[in-house]
Amino acid sequence: MHVWSSSNQKGGVGKTTTVVTLGGLAAQGGERVLMVDLDPHGSLTAYFGHDPESLERSAYELFREGVAGREAVESLLLPTAVPGLTLLPASTALATLDRQLGRREGMGLIVSRALAAVEGEFDVAIIDCPPMLGVLMVNALAACQHLIVPVQTEFLAIKGLERMRHTLGMIEKARGLSVPYTIVPTMFDRRTRASVDSLRTLRTQFSERIWRSAIPVDTRFREASRRGLPLSHIDPAARGVEAYRMLLDDLVALEGAARRRKEAS
Ligand SMILES: Nc1ncnc2c1ncn2[C@@H]1O[C@H](COP(=O)(O)OP(=O)(O)OP(=O)(O)O)[C@@H](O)[C@H]1O
Ligand SMILES: [Mg+2]
Repeated sequence: MHVWSSSNQKGGVGKTTTVVTLGGLAAQGGERVLMVDLDPHGSLTAYFGHDPESLERSAYELFREGVAGREAVESLLLPTAVPGLTLLPASTALATLDRQLGRREGMGLIVSRALAAVEGEFDVAIIDCPPMLGVLMVNALAACQHLIVPVQTEFLAIKGLERMRHTLGMIEKARGLSVPYTIVPTMFDRRTRASVDSLRTLRTQFSERIWRSAIPVDTRFREASRRGLPLSHIDPAARGVEAYRMLLDDLVALEGAARRRKEAS
């Protein structure tokens, strides 16, 4: 099972859109996909029609009960209208975790264990992170093999990326191994100077980690979220979908290469 996480400490950069669209595309390609909502705001959960305020069971249960058996994890999963696309929802209770048990031993590996328990049931798991550092983001980073860092192509967002890089450095130290990541420029509008300039800056400053392309601004993403479906299932030929399709292919190829390197060493 591939495990990816969509993370950035900055809000509104396209993290949730990335999870939904990659998830939709992978499901369309016949993969069994699990989307994991670790954001207490539950935007991903709300996207698929569930209310994170009133859900009785969510990813919060993993932390509260400390359970990670296959059946226990499966009992938290919700189907979506898209065949092959399953959701582990968030509820607002997740917001209390840092205060409750942030410092308790072993709390950073809860999501890794839960995913290991359903390893055989899914081909891909994609984790949506909250825009802040805390026990949830630490869990996501520990669980994933590859990190996707969406960054809006505007100057403030690039500044925020420095903070994210610092966080990754800290976590890499704590984990004792590096988390490979790909910076994905989002909401790119080639007609605006700000977008073009910031993409150029990103390419210079993060040359090794930056994805070769960019996700364009596409107003249809908003329409898709209103309809509660991945854009891939509304308009497979939309510009935004084409870009995410290329990203999906690249991520799969990257991981294949990493695996081959590991096997060879
Ligand atoms: N490529 C895009 N083109 C146009 N609009 C987009 C694009 N990507 C995302 N959006 C829109 O921008 C808004 C923010 O996106 P999204 O919710 O994915 O960001 P986020 O990083 O998950 O935010 P948060 O930090 O609040 O969780 C949403 O309304 C979404 O529909
Ligand atoms: Mg989000």
